[in-house]
Amino acid sequence: MQRDKTRQIFEESCLLIPGGVNSPIRAFQEVDMLPLIAERGFGETVQDVEGHTWIDYCMSWGALPLGHAHPKIVEAVCKQMHLGSTFGLATPFEKDLASLIISHMPSIEKIRFVSSGTEATMSALRLARAASKKPCIIKFNGCYHGHSDALLVKAGSGVSSLPGCSSLGVTEESIAHTLSLPYNDIEVVRQTFKSRSDIGAVIVEPIAANMGLVPASKAFLQALREETEKHGAILIFDEVISGFRVGLGGAQELYGIKPDLTCLGKIIGGGLPAAAFGGKASIMDHLAPIGGVYQAGTLSGNPLAMQAGIATLKELGHPSFYQDLGAKADLLLSPIEEYIKSKDLNICLKRQGSLFTLFFGLKEVTCKEDLSKLDHELFHQFFKELFSKGIYVSPSAWEANFLSSAHTEKSLIYTREAILSFLEKLN
Ligand SMILES: Cc1ncc(COP(=O)(O)O)c(C=O)c1O
Repeated sequence: MQRDKTRQIFEESCLLIPGGVNSPIRAFQEVDMLPLIAERGFGETVQDVEGHTWIDYCMSWGALPLGHAHPKIVEAVCKQMHLGSTFGLATPFEKDLASLIISHMPSIEKIRFVSSGTEATMSALRLARAASKKPCIIKFNGCYHGHSDALLVKAGSGVSSLPGCSSLGVTEESIAHTLSLPYNDIEVVRQTFKSRSDIGAVIVEPIAANMGLVPASKAFLQALREETEKHGAILIFDEVISGFRVGLGGAQELYGIKPDLTCLGKIIGGGLPAAAFGGKASIMDHLAPIGGVYQAGTLSGNPLAMQAGIATLKELGHPSFYQDLGAKADLLLSPIEEYIKSKDLNICLKRQGSLFTLFFGLKEVTCKEDLSKLDHELFHQFFKELFSKGIYVSPSAWEANFLSSAHTEKSLIYTREAILSFLEKLN
C-alpha cells in the first residue's frame, strides 16, 4: 500500500503538534505503524489522504452510531450553520436535546451540556462532592473518565501505556482524595465504605469500554447502588460510551439500576463536540447560577452540536434501530465466538450490543488485573493483517470496537471472514 503522502503529512504534523496528533492514541504508537490520516468518511467507510478506504470499526471512538456523514445530520448541521454557529446565549435547541435525553433516561431530571466527556465527569465529581459534603471519590482500575487530574489514577484507554496508568504533572495533592479499586470486586467496595466515612462519590463505567470491553456484573452495580445509598455517597454512571450505545436508556436501563448522576458524551453530539452530566434535580440544582457549584463553558450547548445530537437521537429512536444493530453484531461476531469456543482458543470475545473486543492471550476478563496476560504482540499482528485488508479496528489492545447502522451485510461478512482466517492460523 502506497503511503508516501501519509508519511509526509505525519512528519510535518510532528514538527508542529506533539507526536503529530491531538489525542495520543491517533499516533498508532501501540501498533508501531504510520497512523491513518483521514480525509473523509462516508457511511461505514473512512478514507485517508491517499484515497485508500477502510471499513471503520472505531467510528470516532463510538461517537457515530449512524456512520459517517449521515444525511440527516449533515442537513441539520448545515441548516444551523446558516443561522449562526455559536451565540454564547441560551437557545431552544438545548432544551430540545435535554428533553429528548431525559425522556429516555428517567434517572435524569435535569441536565447540563458541556463540550467533552472529560468536562462532564470532572464537573459531575465537583457537584457530587458539594452535594454529599464529602471529599473522597472511588473509581475503578481500568475505567477511563477523561483526563482531569483527579481521575488519572490507574486509568484505562491511552493512559494504560503510561507508568502507574497516570500522568506526569498530576500532583499527589490532586489525587489525594481518589481511591481506585478493582472493577467488579464487591467485597473491596464494601470494606472500603466500612472503613471510611469520607466517601462522597463513586464513579464507574457500568459497561467498561476503556480496558477493552468489560461489562460489570449486575451484582457489582447493585452493590454500588446499595453502598452509596447506605453511606450518603453519590453514584455516578459514566455512560460517555454506553449511553445511547447499548440502548436508548443506556446501561442503566439494561441493568435496571438508577444512578444519582449520569455522564454522557460521544453519541449525544452526533459527531460534534457535546457531552453532558445530569441526574436528580436536588443534586443538579447545586449548580450556578442557582447553587454554589461553579461550572461554565463558552461553547457549552453549542447549537451545531445540539442540532446534530437531536438529529442523531431521533434516528436512534426508530423502533427497530437497536434490534437491527444487534443483528449486525450477531452476523459479524456469532461465528467468531463459536469458532473460539470450538477450538478452545486462548482468546476472549466480549460483546455487548454493538460494542466488542477480542482479547488475545486470555480466556476471560472481568477486571483490569486480568489483562496482565494480554498478548500485545498477537494483537499487533491481528491489527496489521486487518488493516492491510481494508478493515480498521481500534488501534490498541485496550480499546473497544463499535458498529454502526451504516455497516453493510457485505462488509460485515468480509470482516468476519478476515478475522476467522487470522484465527485459523493460530491453531
Ligand atoms: C467512559 C468515558 N468517559 C469519559 C471520556 C472522556 O471523553 P472526552 O474524550 O470527550 O473528553 C471517555 C473518552 O473516551 C470515555 O470513554
